[in-house]
Amino acid sequence: MEIKGAVAVVVGGGGGFGSATARRLHAAGAKVVVADLDEAKGTTVAEELGAVYAKTDVTDETSIQNALDRAAELGPVRIAVVAHGGPGGPRTLDKQSKAAPQESFTRVLDIFLAATYNVDRLAAATIARSEPLEHGERGVLINTASIAAYDGTIGQTAYGAAKGGIVSMTLPLARDLAPLGIRVVTIAPGTFLTPAFKDADPEQLDAHWGAAVPFPKRMGRADEYAQLAQQIAENVYLNGETIRLDGALRFTPKGAI
Ligand SMILES: NC(=O)c1ccc[n+]([C@@H]2O[C@H](COP(=O)([O-])OP(=O)(O)OC[C@H]3O[C@@H](n4cnc5c(N)ncnc54)[C@H](O)[C@@H]3O)[C@@H](O)[C@H]2O)c1
Repeated sequence: MEIKGAVAVVVGGGGGFGSATARRLHAAGAKVVVADLDEAKGTTVAEELGAVYAKTDVTDETSIQNALDRAAELGPVRIAVVAHGGPGGPRTLDKQSKAAPQESFTRVLDIFLAATYNVDRLAAATIARSEPLEHGERGVLINTASIAAYDGTIGQTAYGAAKGGIVSMTLPLARDLAPLGIRVVTIAPGTFLTPAFKDADPEQLDAHWGAAVPFPKRMGRADEYAQLAQQIAENVYLNGETIRLDGALRFTPKGAI
């Protein structure tokens, strides 16, 4: 797809992956809507790029639709990137062998899995209204899973299930949307240096998490995610697949060691 002139909605656009992707798509000529729950983060990125900020809560249909409507005002919507964050879950049993609350599981599934589908279905309906390009292509949905979908660590039962769900829905979504020329591709990142790690020292983070990565021996950088997202948007033959982006990292039970 020719990114130039396309409209892209980046959900979680104020975060690490989202902001890096918003920057790349903007540099490639897209009109970008930065959709994020956090107004300060979202407007900072939008102002930097001269883009539109739309306050968006991925768990709320009206709010997602509002971001998509703002995007449609700018031109043909062709790219939706889903890269919002959310909470983790506890271990299945605590130190006293007490079971984790069921709500701690469903909450993680709601924010990561159900909300990703919520954005996907609404974004697909918006993209479906754009005129087809060369090859009959209308647009692409780019979802964010995690390598926890395949080798989740201790405490990642809910997160691994949610991310595994995103991996599993990639092909059926692509099949559902194929008649409209809408592709679906998922990125499964390893460990990346983003604000998701809060205020931790980047050098210490890199030393801890990077040590387990076969090559390159460091955490990923958000722009490396964005680089792949750009390639997914541009390469019409990428469809219905999840791509691991992890330097060959495979999590051990505790993650890095
Ligand atoms: N950083 C990593 O190492 C890593 C690895 C694998 C997968 N991931 C996944 O990538 C995604 C993004 O991660 P990141 O590192 O960029 O995180 P981040 O914390 O840097 O950014 C997440 C963004 O999502 C926004 N957000 C949170 N809740 C939201 C909601 N309800 N509605 C809309 N926006 C909301 C936040 O305001 C923030 O700007 C997450 O799904 C995460 O699980 C990250």
